[in-house]
Amino acid sequence: MKHLIAPSLLAANFLTLEEDLIMVNNSKADWLHVDVMDGNFVPNISFGFSIIKQVKSVCTKPLDVHLMIANPEKYIEQFREAGADVITVHYEACPHLHRTIQQIKSTGAKAGVALNPHTPVTVLEDVLEELDLALLMSVNPGFGGQKFIYRTIPKIRQLHDMRVVQNTSTLIEIDGGVGLQNAQELLKAGANVLVAGSAVFKNENPNKMITKLKEIGKDTIFA
Ligand code: DX5
Ligand code: ZN
Repeated sequence: MKHLIAPSLLAANFLTLEEDLIMVNNSKADWLHVDVMDGNFVPNISFGFSIIKQVKSVCTKPLDVHLMIANPEKYIEQFREAGADVITVHYEACPHLHRTIQQIKSTGAKAGVALNPHTPVTVLEDVLEELDLALLMSVNPGFGGQKFIYRTIPKIRQLHDMRVVQNTSTLIEIDGGVGLQNAQELLKAGANVLVAGSAVFKNENPNKMITKLKEIGKDTIFA
């Protein structure tokens, strides 16, 4: 399967959001990544239901909602109603992770679990077959524009091996510091979904950058 590209809304221009969304609609992007931050689980606050609802009314791509919030189980249904197609919660925020995954699925959304950079992928062993998506944070969650943490690469390989052993088709998504400089290596390691915030929206031609990220193949060579 060809990999998916998910530009991250966090890096868009909120004063001209509709233009950025139309650019995404007209691009080769597969999903729009939507980062929700509560100032509690992470040291930053982003946006909530009303913005997501408005984004949904313009965006034709599935919304990949990444909840960087404490007690996400309290809000799953509301995020689904606001327009989330994929809902990802953090392992570190969910004492009853298995139950929360079932809760997400019961809304009809695809279920994802995210891991912080310090969290080993082995914690997903007993829920992997329940998951549509496993998101590996390759920066500390909370901010765009940070440096990619290299240790993520062996984590991708390890998670990919777990997936093979369990014969599951869980997608591996990488979030933070992703761009042309590392995309190919991430895909080679086993990644399926690449989130790109700054790499897309801070580029002078975001649409072209999405195409470049989408067209990377395992054999692409970038000078
Ligand atoms: C960070 C967010 C990321 C962020 C990525 O907490 O989860 O999705 O938008 O931004 P870049 O691609 O700039 O690292
Ligand atoms: Zn994210």
